[in-house]
Amino acid sequence: MVKICCIGAGYVGGPTMAVIAVKCPAIEVVVVDISKPRIDAWNSDKLPIYEPGLDEVVKACRGRNLFFSTDVEKHVAEADIIFVSVNTPTKTRGLGAGKAADLTYWESAARMIADVSKSDKIVVEKSTVPVKTAEAIEKILTHNSKGINYQILSNPEFLAEGTAIEDLFKPDRVLIGGRETPEGRKAVQALKEVYAHWVPEENIITTNLWSAELSKLAANAFLAQRISSVNAMSALCEATGANVSEVSYAIGKDSRIGPKFLNASVGFGGSCFQKDILNLVYICECNGLPEVANYWKQVIKINDYQKSRFVNRVVSSMFNTVSGKKVAILGFAFKKDTGDTRETPAIDVCKGLLGDKAHVSIYDPEVTEDQIQRDLAMNKFDWDHPMHLQPTSPSAIKQELDYQKIFDNMQKPAFVFDGRNVVDAEKLREIGFIVYSIGKPLDGWLKDMPAIA
Ligand code: UDX
Ligand code: ADP
Repeated sequence: MVKICCIGAGYVGGPTMAVIAVKCPAIEVVVVDISKPRIDAWNSDKLPIYEPGLDEVVKACRGRNLFFSTDVEKHVAEADIIFVSVNTPTKTRGLGAGKAADLTYWESAARMIADVSKSDKIVVEKSTVPVKTAEAIEKILTHNSKGINYQILSNPEFLAEGTAIEDLFKPDRVLIGGRETPEGRKAVQALKEVYAHWVPEENIITTNLWSAELSKLAANAFLAQRISSVNAMSALCEATGANVSEVSYAIGKDSRIGPKFLNASVGFGGSCFQKDILNLVYICECNGLPEVANYWKQVIKINDYQKSRFVNRVVSSMFNTVSGKKVAILGFAFKKDTGDTRETPAIDVCKGLLGDKAHVSIYDPEVTEDQIQRDLAMNKFDWDHPMHLQPTSPSAIKQELDYQKIFDNMQKPAFVFDGRNVVDAEKLREIGFIVYSIGKPLDGWLKDMPAIA
């Protein structure tokens, strides 16, 4: 029986291992973590992360061939394949601060593997790491090897939060990078066989190690770039009277462009996009490519611009001040169907409004008050906070908002600012609201109150 151990029971490690276990009943999968509360939560009825479909998958195989444990060393020692899925936040200090990935957790995981291993291992990079990390890990392992053979593979994860289970069940592709030696190829084949239990062979791509590592950063940079491009267009739409949804639809019909990931928004968030682009920028700088670094930096600049543009729009519409005004924020996570608040644009928006002395009330069915307090108190690059447990209130309740009632209880003029283009703006205007939708033709009121960017 093949034994798999995954170090790190987070947003990536947890769901990925649960799906491997459910699809491969003959493989024993143990997910280990140094955090006891997190492992306890994985072993309880209340999983530590909210992800549609995850509960069912975990229930189907937990205790059968899926286990969660804090006994990191024992399970690493017993495993044939070790996935490393620990956090790789952006460095907050020292060389490369604010850009480079902090590999502290990775390095300590690698040293621990070297310490406890007594048999040959395949070590799989699952967390996003800078290009050439595999080489560093290989060095740590082989210099401490005691005669054990290690093969390092890069198998980046492309799942998106909120659709993790769906993405894992039906991935567009699985990418496996390895050394181009007979032993390297054998290791790639062994991992390929795991995924081949449910992923068609033509969707499993094998490459060299560096291509796999770079493809992950490149994929996220390209995705984020699409959002920044459409968000840049949204500003122009507001200035000209064009409608960004119509523009997106029209360009997305071109099969070379395609329809996905063209929704204008208040800005992208999440643990990957910004971090990975900063990482890419840093790698470019280190390789003497400042022009390339600047090109990708622009994607982040537009994202920051979009967030401050939104805040400016809110403030300018309300006579250039929100001081003492009550603002309700609906939704705080970085997107729907997740409780993850890492790099959520809501943090910048709330901080912007609070900076102007607004009275802000925040609600998100998946995010606790504690979490929101922590997010609004912390520094920019301090976001790799410990994962929070889910709120105790029944989060599944999706209430329909009664906008007429809300309007009746608000001071007039009453405003709605839609950072996701999800409300029915026409309906709200009929009720009497002044509505701002990103990239859409502006209400007369908003036209008269131009936002200062
Ligand atoms: C992303 C990648 O999609 C995934 O492949 C990678 O493995 C990890 O990073 P994730 O961060 O979970 O996944 O979420 P994603 O769905 O990509 O959304 C990221 C952000 O972009 C969210 O804030 C989302 O609201 C925003 N977004 C997305 C837009 O603003 N417009 C869009 O059209 C799509
Ligand atoms: P991601 O979104 O990439 O999955 P998370 O922060 O959700 O990242 O999860 C990473 C997990 O890795 C955390 O639960 C953390 O406790 C765990 N971790 C970090 N270092 C180690 C280590 N040396 N051994 C075991 N677990 C670790």
